[in-house]
Amino acid sequence: MAFIPPVAGAGGGGPRRSVGERRPVLPVCGHASQRVRGGGRVGRSAPSPPRMTAAKTSPAQAEAQDVDFLPAQKPTKHDLATGRDPNRVKIFDTTLRDGEQSPGATLTGEEKMIIARQLAKLGVDIIEAGFPIASEGDFHAVHAIAEVVGNRPDPPIVCGLARALKADIDRCWEAIKPAAFPRIHTFIATSDVHMEHKLKKSRAQVLAITTEMVTHARSLCDDVEFSAEDAIRSDPEFLYQVFSAAVAAGATTLNVPDTVGYTTPNEFSRLIRGIRANVVGVEGVTLSVHGHDDLGMAVANFLSAVESGARQMECTINGIGERAGNAALEELVMALHVRRNYYNTRLGRTVGGPPLTNINHTEIYQTSRLVSSLTGMLVQPNKAIVGANAFSHESGIHQDGVLKNPETYEIMDARSVGLKDNSMVLGKLSGRHAFRSRLTELGYELTDEEVNRAFVRFKELADTKKTVSSWDIESIVNDEVRAVDAPRVALHRVQVSCGNLCVPTSTVSLSVVNGAGGDAAAAGDEPSAEVTTSATGTGPVDATFKAINSAVGELVDVALEEYTVSAVTKGIDALGEVTVRVRDGATGRRYTGNSSDTDVVVASAQAYIRAINRCTIAHEAPEPIHPQVFGAL
Ligand code: KIV
Ligand code: ZN
Repeated sequence: MAFIPPVAGAGGGGPRRSVGERRPVLPVCGHASQRVRGGGRVGRSAPSPPRMTAAKTSPAQAEAQDVDFLPAQKPTKHDLATGRDPNRVKIFDTTLRDGEQSPGATLTGEEKMIIARQLAKLGVDIIEAGFPIASEGDFHAVHAIAEVVGNRPDPPIVCGLARALKADIDRCWEAIKPAAFPRIHTFIATSDVHMEHKLKKSRAQVLAITTEMVTHARSLCDDVEFSAEDAIRSDPEFLYQVFSAAVAAGATTLNVPDTVGYTTPNEFSRLIRGIRANVVGVEGVTLSVHGHDDLGMAVANFLSAVESGARQMECTINGIGERAGNAALEELVMALHVRRNYYNTRLGRTVGGPPLTNINHTEIYQTSRLVSSLTGMLVQPNKAIVGANAFSHESGIHQDGVLKNPETYEIMDARSVGLKDNSMVLGKLSGRHAFRSRLTELGYELTDEEVNRAFVRFKELADTKKTVSSWDIESIVNDEVRAVDAPRVALHRVQVSCGNLCVPTSTVSLSVVNGAGGDAAAAGDEPSAEVTTSATGTGPVDATFKAINSAVGELVDVALEEYTVSAVTKGIDALGEVTVRVRDGATGRRYTGNSSDTDVVVASAQAYIRAINRCTIAHEAPEPIHPQVFGAL
């Protein structure tokens, strides 16, 4: 049971304001005043403050009285069909789009589908499944997610990204239209620096494109989100004009991105208030926030924006994404949950009423592990909510306090995010049935063939290791999923000799498809005969990677950028999980590979070969288009 600190009691200190006294709407980014279009102040009828039992006013209540509460929101078709509270804060997950833009985090269509299923189970409201015009692969992945995940019971909205270009929007619509609730998300930059140097367009042109492209998107789909890229560094008056044009053209969500992670909580909050005060028709749409974590403030910025009227947050699992990443879903959601009394009060909602988000918290941990494993983006141990140390109390004094009363140092229970005691074991006598039910408990929906493959790995592991925990199972299943179909390079054998008195030496035997003609492998052509090479190195892993490099020869030229090994469970017989990131010498793009095995040299060789395979396969397709790296529209 999570510990919820009570709303500060009666008589708490802090500044007071008399009831009815309101803080004036603050200027945004140096603008001295804000006009309210259509006359009068922002048309919000403030509901009576939530009823509290305390006779006096707490600081949170006093502050809440300053806020322009949003009026009750009109339920959307999706809210009505899924029974979701229209007044919740909507969670828009962009792990599969912005998250996948992290260097090296490229996912296959199958991996995207597995993550999308888990996101639906987690209860996200919108899945941004990709950028369909980027490549054939992205198009098919978005289409498949729209078809499958977008039509499951209690489906999320499935969204695709499109630049403000007709071709992008048409391609996006083709990809998402099988979903029960499709959404087109189109965007154009509105800051002077982006318009001048990237788009090479004037303000008038950007305004006209907004109207034209939102109108076009709306002619295809009745749910259209419009983003003003780099909104934070845009001139607010121009931003209001662009947003007003987008609403007039039919946008149903307005998104305010902090593209470069530059804003601060108060500044973001003021901008949201400014938009509410100045954008014509804003009361009929959902205001959304999107932001990057370059200054480490993304989560704080979003929470501040929500207090000012934003009702959709665009975030990623584990906070992955461009550069320093996006706002982390798990941190936002748990902040709204653990501090729900505070946020309910600040948002003018009933304390003790329905949850602030639709997220099923107990799926958070599983989702985090899945995304980390499939993207190869490891979670730092001290990461809030999902890091390995997030719930451990190692220091003596804390441990003592926690044992006496968990509330001394814990504000939430690890079980509330789904961190279970996964040491429940299967042994070598466990049958296929027990194995399958453990997979189901872990959230995997696998075909019979996939279960069979994983079961073989499980039996092999159970022969080596006395007990197999859920984490081991998760690791071997993810290992199978990460294996590349039709690999260009395959490992047959690796053998090392090492120790304090010898030069570490490795011998590997691989099959390598000749030339870069990867279609050969896809078409079932014979791979080359086995190639065996040896190399020495500073250690057994270094020697192995050098031997692999010499075996693959001309096929690909990669440089190792990152190598990590971690133990899946405690104990000397633990599976070692290896993640490598390589840089392709030809394109500069990054690829990751990971693998697990009780022998870390084998896991290392497999992980390295997987990264090489991803790189080689990528050479065979045209370079995908990056949504934010493009010249004049
Ligand atoms: O960061 C950003 O501005 C984006 C937009 C495409 C929404 O990702
Ligand atoms: Zn972004």
